[in-house]
Amino acid sequence: MTAVHLGFPRVPSNRGPSGTPRPEHPGLVDSFGRVATDLRVSLTDRCNLRCTYCMPAEGLDWMPSDQVLTDDELVRLMRIAVEMLGVTDIRLTGGEPLLRPGLENIVERITALDPRPRVSMTTNGIGLAKRAPGLVSAGLDRINVSLDTIDRERFAELTRRDRLPHVLAGLAAARDAGLSPVKINSVLMRGYNEHEAVPLLRFCLEEGYHLRFIEQMPLDAQHGWNRRDMITAEEILAMLGEAFTLSPFPAPRGGAPAERWLVDGGPGDVGVIASVTRPFCSACERTRLTADGAVRSCLFSNDETDLRSLVRAGARDKEVADAWRDTMWRKLAGHEINEAGFAQPIRPMSAIGG
Ligand code: 5AD
Ligand code: SF4
Repeated sequence: MTAVHLGFPRVPSNRGPSGTPRPEHPGLVDSFGRVATDLRVSLTDRCNLRCTYCMPAEGLDWMPSDQVLTDDELVRLMRIAVEMLGVTDIRLTGGEPLLRPGLENIVERITALDPRPRVSMTTNGIGLAKRAPGLVSAGLDRINVSLDTIDRERFAELTRRDRLPHVLAGLAAARDAGLSPVKINSVLMRGYNEHEAVPLLRFCLEEGYHLRFIEQMPLDAQHGWNRRDMITAEEILAMLGEAFTLSPFPAPRGGAPAERWLVDGGPGDVGVIASVTRPFCSACERTRLTADGAVRSCLFSNDETDLRSLVRAGARDKEVADAWRDTMWRKLAGHEINEAGFAQPIRPMSAIGG
């Protein structure tokens, strides 16, 4: 069984899953030969929506603010990742990252790092209409907006907030501010929005957004995920195939989680991220940092390392970098959702970051 670390400085372990000690290597390597260069940073666990597949109507007990990394702590950890650990891409997530005070300043500080990382953000789009130009000026390169339906009533039902017009305005503002491509993430659920695949794709093709469907994963705070309610990649492709002609995307997929198809010969495309039914763990390039300063090697890790305590105890950059490398060296081969005895991680998606 793997230990779970909740806010205590952990005993460092540089042993991988099969007991091999971590070799000397500057980057974030694991014992299966993967190298993580893509950092996901959760800036806050708070959110202004209450998507039913993510959190309960009343919200969650948010992290106390003294446990959340300060801007300086966050930027320092991102600097260590970029300068010492070979991270080339940073994605800012939440909860809802637009709720983090001083977001634009954080973007400005991390895009000034050398070498400059590509910086993107995953957001629910609320408030983006006003902030897209400022974020672009601060250096933001790309954006993903979560949108599971274009039907206003269904949106209100799914997110428990009547905010579809705000999200649509946010999307248009992101496009007008020059963010390209603007991507949309959609999760389909049986009995809620399963028939939205075709309307969502039509909407995205018309507006020039790039659509990605994500299979629903067992990461909700309520632990209510049920394999039968998940709409699989195969089902999504079958629904799309009735309205469009899909052909395999010509470019190689690399470490990207989405399998892509050209729609009606292109140039429009659609992607499906089949995390559950077609896992892509063997090509994973990710490492994750939570808003309270824990490093995780996987969304589904039960093993995380508390960097905040190290930082607040005065650790030098090298010690922080080594603790991060050790965590990644311990990364498991895959998420094990499809294995008997799979246990959902303690942290919900909103406190890890998508
Ligand atoms: N499974 C799949 N995707 C999820 N998201 C949130 N919870 C889940 C889940 N359980 C998506 C959001 C957002 C991104 C951060 O992850 O819709 O697009
Ligand atoms: Fe908020 Fe995203 Fe969770 Fe929806 S899925 S409640 S937008 S954190």
